[in-house]
Amino acid sequence: AHSFPTRRSSDLNMSIPLRTEDEIVKLREACKLASDVLVMIEPYIKEGVSTGELDRICHDYMVNVQKVIPAPLNYHGFPKATCISLNEVVCHGIPSDDKYLKKGDILNIDITVIKDGYYGDNSKMYIVGETNLRSKKLVEAAQEALYVGLRTVKPGIRLNEIGKAVQKYTESQTFSVVREYCGHGIGTEFHCEPQVLHYYADDGGVVLKPGMVFTIEPMINAGKKEVRLMGDGWTVKTKDRSHSAQFEHQIVVTENGCEVMTIRDEEIAEGRIQRVMVNV
Ligand code: MF3
Ligand code: CO
Ligand code: CO
Repeated sequence: AHSFPTRRSSDLNMSIPLRTEDEIVKLREACKLASDVLVMIEPYIKEGVSTGELDRICHDYMVNVQKVIPAPLNYHGFPKATCISLNEVVCHGIPSDDKYLKKGDILNIDITVIKDGYYGDNSKMYIVGETNLRSKKLVEAAQEALYVGLRTVKPGIRLNEIGKAVQKYTESQTFSVVREYCGHGIGTEFHCEPQVLHYYADDGGVVLKPGMVFTIEPMINAGKKEVRLMGDGWTVKTKDRSHSAQFEHQIVVTENGCEVMTIRDEEIAEGRIQRVMVNV
């Protein structure tokens, strides 16, 4: 078992809250609910269904069954309960009743819930039927890129060690890392300090401490790293229109690694990561 501090922030990193044991319990609940939505929606991912319909199913499940608030809805004006990002869409795809899944599509569904004022944020990729080898490899690499990041986390390291490892792995797989969007602190707000870059930046860097809670969510592209924001003000696509993939987990730094608060049973069974990661 791990203990979490009672003080409210670390000395060197004043703006990054250290969560107490009581707060961790709340965050665990929110994260479990957020991860349950990703599992619930899987059987609905089929050729011919619209992303608007998938959003509706997730919305109704969150609101009526889980009794949580879908955090994206009305967040800075975002119009839907989920983000669904298809193929060349990097992130923040707006679900639409005219966007139908077809065989070979790859998509990310990003779910964030608010439960009793605490946030749980996670996402994963789905493949519609079978896709081409390059896209399949992209999706696998996006998952492993997240896992590589998770395996670096422990107290005392600098935050930029995460991005360094994620970038090195991603580029070794011939893919590129998106620079404009990053992981983030989360807790009683959707997005707060620190920013978790998925590439190396010599930024002095925050030192990790037990009780820090943040997401790791690398977006990686089959082609070049550059992205473009579409005219709707939300949808982000790859500039070269190559496919993009992303997986996201929310974690808390522990005494000797991290706890993956949004881990799914399928991932535990696979054995590539654990709920409690010992990274010493
Ligand atoms: N869930 C996204 C993230 O991982 C944020 C979505 S913001 C929205 O940070 F407004 F697009 F919903
Ligand atoms: Co998210
Ligand atoms: Co996030």
